[in-house]
Amino acid sequence: MLKLSSIESSEQELKEFYEQLRAQNVTPAWIAGGVTVEPRSKAVGHVWHWRDVRPHAVRAAELVGTEQAERRVLRLTNPELPGVSASNTLVANIQIVMPGEIARAHRHSASALRLIIEGQGGYTVVNGDRIPMYPGDLVLTPNWTWHDHANDTDQPMIWLDGLDTPLVRMLEAGFYEEFGQERQPVGAGPDPSVAKYGAGGLRPAWETGTAARYSPLWHYPLSQARAALERLAAEDSGSPFDGMILEYTNPLTGGSAMPTIACYIQLLHPGQHTQAHRHTCCTNYHVIEGSGHSIVGGQRLDWEDKDVFTIPTWTLHEHVNTGTRPALLFSFSDAPVMKALDLYREDAKG
Ligand SMILES: [Fe+2]
Repeated sequence: MLKLSSIESSEQELKEFYEQLRAQNVTPAWIAGGVTVEPRSKAVGHVWHWRDVRPHAVRAAELVGTEQAERRVLRLTNPELPGVSASNTLVANIQIVMPGEIARAHRHSASALRLIIEGQGGYTVVNGDRIPMYPGDLVLTPNWTWHDHANDTDQPMIWLDGLDTPLVRMLEAGFYEEFGQERQPVGAGPDPSVAKYGAGGLRPAWETGTAARYSPLWHYPLSQARAALERLAAEDSGSPFDGMILEYTNPLTGGSAMPTIACYIQLLHPGQHTQAHRHTCCTNYHVIEGSGHSIVGGQRLDWEDKDVFTIPTWTLHEHVNTGTRPALLFSFSDAPVMKALDLYREDAKG
C-alpha cells in the first residue's frame, strides 16, 4: 500500500547534511518556505500629500540642474520599500521642469506615462511627435520610444511619472540609450498621434497597424476624458467598486494603453462610497481633483487635490468622496501583466 513515509534522523545528521548542501549552493526546499496561501505584499497602502511633496520638487529645481540630473525626479517610496518605489512593480515619481529648461532625449525598455499636475503647455516629444501637456492630461512614452521634455512656458511644469522599472529590473530586461543630441527633431503638425487616433472609434484606414503592442495614441487630454465621464455618469452608476471608471485604451486593440500598465480615470459623486474589493494587481492613484478617503487594508488614507496614493496587491480597498465636488481619480496598475500570465484574480468578499 502506498503511504507517506516516515524517517527518523538526528538533529546532528540533518545539520551536517544541510551544511554540505549550503557549501555547494543547494537548498532543501522543504525548509526554505516561499509558498503563501494568498499574496502578501511587502508594500503597504500609503498617501503622499501634495502640500508636502510640492515644496521638495521646487527645492530640487533650485539645487539641481537638468544638465546634472538626466531627469529631475523625486521618487515617492513606499514606507515598506524604502528608497525603491511606490509599489511592487510600478513607480510613482514627481518630475519638475522649470521655465526654459529641457530634459534631454533618451529611451529605455521601461514603459512610462506622465500625468500632468501643474503647468500650461510645456511639451514632451515622443519619436518626433510634439505633445502638449496640460493639467490632468495623460501622455505615454511607451517601451523604447525616444522622448525628451521641454518647458517653453513661464511656469514650472510638474507631472507624475509612472513607470514599470521595478518590474523590468526584476525581469532583468532593462535597456537604456541616449539619443546622441539633446533634443529630437520635431515633425510637422501639432499632436500627430491625437490627429490620427484621438477621434474615438475612428482610425486611419491606410495604416496597417504596427508590430508594437503599445497604443499608437500617446496623448489623452483630460478635456476628452472628463466629457466622457460626465456624459456617462449622468445616466449610469458604473462599477460598484469604482464608480464611473473608464480605461484609457489602445485604439487599435481596445486593450491596455501599454503591455505592462493599464491606466484609468474614475469619477466619484459627492457622498459616494464604493464597495470594498481586492485584486492581484498593485495600483497607484493620483487625485486630479476632489477630496475624500480610501480605506486600504483597514487603514484610512485621506486624500485631496493632487495627492498620490498606492494600494498594494490583494488588499481590500474602498473609496469615499467626502467633498462637495465630484472627485476625479487617475490610476495605473500592473493588471495587464497579471492577466497575460493568468495570475489575475478579483475578490469582493474579503
Ligand atoms: Fe525616460
